[in-house]
Amino acid sequence: NLPAHVKIVEVGPRDGLQNEKEIVPTSTKVQLIKMLVSSGLTVVEATSFVSPKWVPQLADAKDVMDAIQNIQGARFPVLTPNLKGFEAAVSAGAKEVAIFASASESFSKSNINCSIEDSLARFRDVVSAAREISLPVRGYVSCVVGCPVEGIVPPSKVAYVAKQLFDMGCSEISLGDTIGVGTPGTVIPMLENVMNFVPIDNLAVHFHDTYGQALSNILTSLQMGISNVDSSVSGLGGCPYAKGGSGNVATEDVVYMLNGLGIETNVDLEKLLLAGDFICKHLRRPPSSKTAVALSSK
Ligand code: HMG
Ligand code: MG
Repeated sequence: NLPAHVKIVEVGPRDGLQNEKEIVPTSTKVQLIKMLVSSGLTVVEATSFVSPKWVPQLADAKDVMDAIQNIQGARFPVLTPNLKGFEAAVSAGAKEVAIFASASESFSKSNINCSIEDSLARFRDVVSAAREISLPVRGYVSCVVGCPVEGIVPPSKVAYVAKQLFDMGCSEISLGDTIGVGTPGTVIPMLENVMNFVPIDNLAVHFHDTYGQALSNILTSLQMGISNVDSSVSGLGGCPYAKGGSGNVATEDVVYMLNGLGIETNVDLEKLLLAGDFICKHLRRPPSSKTAVALSSK
């Protein structure tokens, strides 16, 4: 019982790059975004309006937004942790934003420097400001199965935070396995719990691939009725405040799997591979999606 169509949310320019130590030039980020859009991806998370002291790599958020204003065919949501970030994002032309909460107290503190409850209060301010100008807001929940400090995170805690974000007005809730420790064994009970509070069509899954479980977790999620999947070109990614985590699932591998399942994505795999090659050359590392490796050795 699989969905006929899956919406991929490409997070490479944001999640993929945020953890890179060496600053990537703005023009390279912009070129990457253009290549991702031309592959057929319709949602590309472009950058974050966060503190440049916390995430130096994305300090050029405004310049990136300026340069992509006229790109047609895709939406470019950006991360906004508070009103300051929201206002900067809107002035830079953002038409869609994302707030990011955590299901674990420790990770909330280390990632956004406040408790879960304090973050929800901040996010309510962001959502109501967004509502005034009819801007859609996505809500992330991090650490949905495990936390680098607290270990196992109870599904009820994830459901609580997801419900809070949904009730305050987020249009989509993305459930993040920030450190990539989940397996279908932990993902299924987590999703079952969340689905009691948030309609399935408003849910997305966001898997990091630390233990190589991301594709199994995605397939499991699809079988449970989810049709929104986050991924990052060439499997780049990781949160600087999530010790022990690694890259996101590679978009190329997600598209390969969905193609095999006969699920429509409208993404051209060859063009997507070119985008992966492009950014990996700039980062001076070999393309790391399984699909790129397999096709390059042919
Ligand atoms: P703070 O230090 O508590 O903030 O940081 P503050 O309000 O006390 O302000 C301190 C300074 O930051 C001030 O500047 C503010 O103006 C400035 P100063 O007076 O010292 O010069 N500031 C800002 N500057 C730019 N943009 C802003 C902003 N807000 C305050 N929006 C804060 C709190 C939330 C800002 C900080 O902790 C932060 O930026 N955190 C972001 C961390 C981050 O981006 N993490 C990665 C994204 S989350 C993720 O990857 C997980 C996800 O992929 C899902 C998953 O995998 O599970 C989404
Ligand atoms: Mg992430």
